[in-house]
Parts: sequence; structure tokens; C-alpha cells
Amino acid sequence: MELEDELGDILEKGRDGKSWSQADLAESTGMTLQEIVRIENYEWTPQKKVIFKIADALNLHGPSLAAIAAAEWSPKKEIPVSGNFDVICLNVFMGNYPVKCYLLICRESRSTAIIDTGANPGEIIKKTRELGVEPEMILLTHTHPDHAGGLSKLDREFGCPTWVDKLEPRPFGSRNMRLIEEGDSIILGNLKIETIPTRGHTLGGISFKVDQSVFSGDSIFSGSMGRANSSWKDLFNSVSQNLLTLPKSTRLYPGHGPSTTVGEEKLHNPFFYDKS
Ligand SMILES: [Fe+2]
Repeated sequence: MELEDELGDILEKGRDGKSWSQADLAESTGMTLQEIVRIENYEWTPQKKVIFKIADALNLHGPSLAAIAAAEWSPKKEIPVSGNFDVICLNVFMGNYPVKCYLLICRESRSTAIIDTGANPGEIIKKTRELGVEPEMILLTHTHPDHAGGLSKLDREFGCPTWVDKLEPRPFGSRNMRLIEEGDSIILGNLKIETIPTRGHTLGGISFKVDQSVFSGDSIFSGSMGRANSSWKDLFNSVSQNLLTLPKSTRLYPGHGPSTTVGEEKLHNPFFYDKS
């Protein structure tokens, strides 16, 4: 199970949290600039003791970072749980880059939501036909093109409302846009979907929670965090305070990479080890 982020990505995001340049990290660890550049370009994986030194400088959890660098850790495989809904995970590509989009289906009513559209949502349409479901809403965790670029195609296909946080830049393509206010929940068949603000990757980033499953967009990845396009501090705080305070068994479905749980990330994510 391949993680979304490698050592180089994690270093870059760790530096971002401190507003450090590569030269700053080199200076603080006594390494050369060239060594930092090579790590971030995926050209060099240093020994454990060097990784611990870097982790220390960036306030990351050393053992977790070393385990990811050595490809020794990935989250436990998801075991389907019996409940009143199904989650279908789809890889929807933008070029070669996969984005995780999800179908959330109420088992009793067959009511279906699409969570994020990807850029080219043909795969989503195909799956709904295979399953014989007619989506009645589109939920957007945020509106980056790889997550919302397929909106107009899905709007034409299904003609259903699209929900997006009121703080998020409006995406193109929906003829029926509903804005999420703080504390809103959304009803899908017999399911209640709660909204959880997860700001920082974007201004109006939001996660959707149903029962013990959370669709968390690009806020947290298994073993890493999203890129802080809006605010690193907001992103770190919203993940620590709004997601990782949920019960350990809560399943997180991110926008990229494998699904994970709150418990796994609190034990193995170098950014969030023991941080909530
Ligand atoms: Fe994104």
C-alpha cells in the first residue's frame, strides 16, 4: 500500500511549518544544502541517525519518519465493517495523478453521494451504472481542480445539488450549489453526514463524517499531512483538534493515498504522533 508522501515530501511540508528554506534546514542540522536537496528530490535516503536529526529539527516524530523513509510502515488494510452504508473508493486520474473519490451509499435507501469529482469523472459514472445507483448529491471537500474539475460533467449526468463550504472558492460547473455553514449536517437517505471544518490546505476545506468514517480531503494523508496552501498552522490545528480527537477506530478516507484510522495516525504519523 503506497503512501501518498515520501520522505522528501514530508521534509518540505515540515520546513513549511517553520517557514524554513532548505538552507535553514541544512544549517540547523549541520548538513549540506546539497544533501537536503537530494533528499527532497527523492535521490537519497539517509541513515536512521540522520533522519532522527532532521526530525528533531522539524518537530517531527523520529521513529515514525524513519519507518516511512525505509518503507517499513503503512496503515493496516481496511476491514469492511457492517453498518448502514457502503463506501466505494475510486481512483480518478488527472493525467497520471490519482485522486481518491468516493461513493457513499445508504444501504437501506440506496441514496448515494459522490464525494469529490476528480478531474475526469468517467470512472464515477461507470461505477454508479454498475451499482444501479443515482447520486443525489455531490459533496466537495475542497475545490482544487483534481478534486472538483469533473463537476460540470457530473452535474450534466446527474443534475443533483453540490455542497461546498461557504469559505471555499466557488467551483465551476454546478447549476445547484449549496453552501455549507458552520455546524451544518446533510441528510442522505437514512444517514446523517456531519461537516467538520478542516481549514489550511484551502480556506474552506471541509471533511464529511458519517458514523465512524470521515472523508477528509487533502487535510491529512496516511503518514503525512496535506500541503498548506492556505495556512500551515490552521491545517495542523484543524487536523489535531477536529480529526485526531475522534475515537481511535474512526476511519479516515483521504483525497490521496490509502485509508487509515485516527489510532494509526496518532501512533505513526510523524507530524501528529501524540499531538492531539
Ligand atoms: Fe487539494
